[in-house]
Amino acid sequence: RTVYVNGEYLPEDRATISVFDRGFLMADGVYEVVSVLGGKLIDFDGHMARLQRSLSELAIANPLSEAGYLDAHRRLLAENAITDGLVYLQVTRGNPGDRDFAYPSADTPPTVVMFTQSKPGLADAPAARTGWKVVSVEDLRWGRRDIKTVQLLYPSMAKMEAKARGADDAWLVEDGRVTEGTSNNAYIVKGGTIITRELGHDILHGITRAAVLRLAAEAQMKVEERSFTIAEAQAADEAFITSASAFVMPVVQIDGAAIGTGTPGPVAARLREIYLEESR
Ligand code: PDD
Repeated sequence: RTVYVNGEYLPEDRATISVFDRGFLMADGVYEVVSVLGGKLIDFDGHMARLQRSLSELAIANPLSEAGYLDAHRRLLAENAITDGLVYLQVTRGNPGDRDFAYPSADTPPTVVMFTQSKPGLADAPAARTGWKVVSVEDLRWGRRDIKTVQLLYPSMAKMEAKARGADDAWLVEDGRVTEGTSNNAYIVKGGTIITRELGHDILHGITRAAVLRLAAEAQMKVEERSFTIAEAQAADEAFITSASAFVMPVVQIDGAAIGTGTPGPVAARLREIYLEESR
């Protein structure tokens, strides 16, 4: 694989970053994941806008223009012959040359890394026909989940707990209410209304979430942005999640309780279809 590091395109085994990189020592950096379907980048502008916001919140100067990122994405897709898959992009505060809690001077160049992952048939994942099982896990992440930092240890722990309990993912719960999945936004459907937590510092502002809510409104579906409990989710007609890599994925079981009929519901199926339709 060819990967991108600070302006260079290198074979992955020759790409290096410093041991003093703030991303490595302190998780001081942000990332984006853009899906690729049929060679096309999905919701690219939205992901670049969120990248800019994440960087601004952390006072990291954006080292590339959107056109620069687009060129790099396209070159990596071409060099790695990617048709379906994703591009991972990470920007960290760079290498101050030593370890220190205080930020280094503003002229320290950020470290930019990009690489591709090939996922043939990404849009036809068999899981979309069977749906995911999720379990609830306490949300112990920090308080600025709207910033897409590379600090992913707790979501990884929650994912491992879900797997150990025989599930596909965890829904994180804070003060008795669902925030989001380990790496996706969470939804339920009740009486035809799509319900998903309102935006704030406690969840990531999903780019797929924004696209799906816009498509739902265009299709005259009712949307309520508010939080919900696990009990309410278990009593819902349907549940699903959204993310750049899973698109719209039905959820059929929460903590062992079947949702609705225990099979993927019509609202999730329709949203998945219209989202993929528009993306292709
Ligand atoms: N995860 N919430 C969290 C905590 C996430 O990590 C993600 C994305 C989302 C969905 O956001 P979007 O629709 O913009 O992908 C919500 C990416 C896909 C990942 O970590 O791989």
